[in-house]
Amino acid sequence: MTSTLDTLNTAFGIPNTLHFTEVKPGFVVAEITTPLASASVALHGAHVLSWQPAGQQPVIWVSKAAFFEPGKPVRGGVPVCWPWFGAVPGKTLHGFVRTMIWQVRGAELDATGQLVLRLGLTDDATTRAVWDHAFDLELAVTVGSTLALALTTRNTGDAPLSITQALHSYFCTADITQTTVQGLDGTPYLDKVQNFAVCQQSGDVTFSGETDRIYTDTTSDSLIQDGAGRRSIRIAKQGSASTVVWNPWVEKEKTMADMAPGEHRQFLCVETCNAGSDAVTIAPAMTHTLAATISLV
Ligand code: BG6
Repeated sequence: MTSTLDTLNTAFGIPNTLHFTEVKPGFVVAEITTPLASASVALHGAHVLSWQPAGQQPVIWVSKAAFFEPGKPVRGGVPVCWPWFGAVPGKTLHGFVRTMIWQVRGAELDATGQLVLRLGLTDDATTRAVWDHAFDLELAVTVGSTLALALTTRNTGDAPLSITQALHSYFCTADITQTTVQGLDGTPYLDKVQNFAVCQQSGDVTFSGETDRIYTDTTSDSLIQDGAGRRSIRIAKQGSASTVVWNPWVEKEKTMADMAPGEHRQFLCVETCNAGSDAVTIAPAMTHTLAATISLV
């Protein structure tokens, strides 16, 4: 792995700003530090593991019990769910790219001092065995006083491609019982906790039990109000007409080997999606970009 790290650092490293390191065997992470923010991104899944704007507490949450192992998803951060979101009979939950090793395609500081890291993945025999389509996938991670994520799917095949997907972001919160999500008032949702019952949001989203909802027909920003932490997190999005809000609460948390007791109190997921009926069809040679911009407000 040393030679891989050397190659990556020689090709893409930026002194005092971007360095690749192996945090566990086979698990390589880009460590980013700029005057604007620090962040880390694993090549495993193109998985954003942290983002902390200068002078602020961490914004992105990762479980203390998370696995950092080849072939296993990471509990927390921003898993990339693609080319399907959720369950598909006979297939792994949330697609297959969150456990694949992505290639580094570029890293540069832009004119405003943001670090832009681009990771990519294309179809091969492994992906063809589970999903028989040609594709090029690229995640651009822009680390600054905001965190911008843009996931671009290019259809490199000769037939239309249909996908569902998510930037499945986990956010820190000081106390979930004092946390709300604004921006979804009046929005219909499918309630997974009630066997996908169709419901409608009234007021802000609050948390007092397991919450697992696909909000449909919404392009709105979401605003997490972390009452106990006395801060707000805005999630603006593009290329998305669905938003998922998830917290496993007490009982489901106990069933998850990669979550420590009581951790459900410390995070919530607000996911930028193309989920449910918001599937995207991409014509040959065309692209679709799913983007989220995260900021403290
Ligand atoms: C959410 C789903 O997006 O992800 C939940 O709506 C699911 O149903 C959750 O439990 C976590 O999924 P996983 O595969 O990372 O445990």
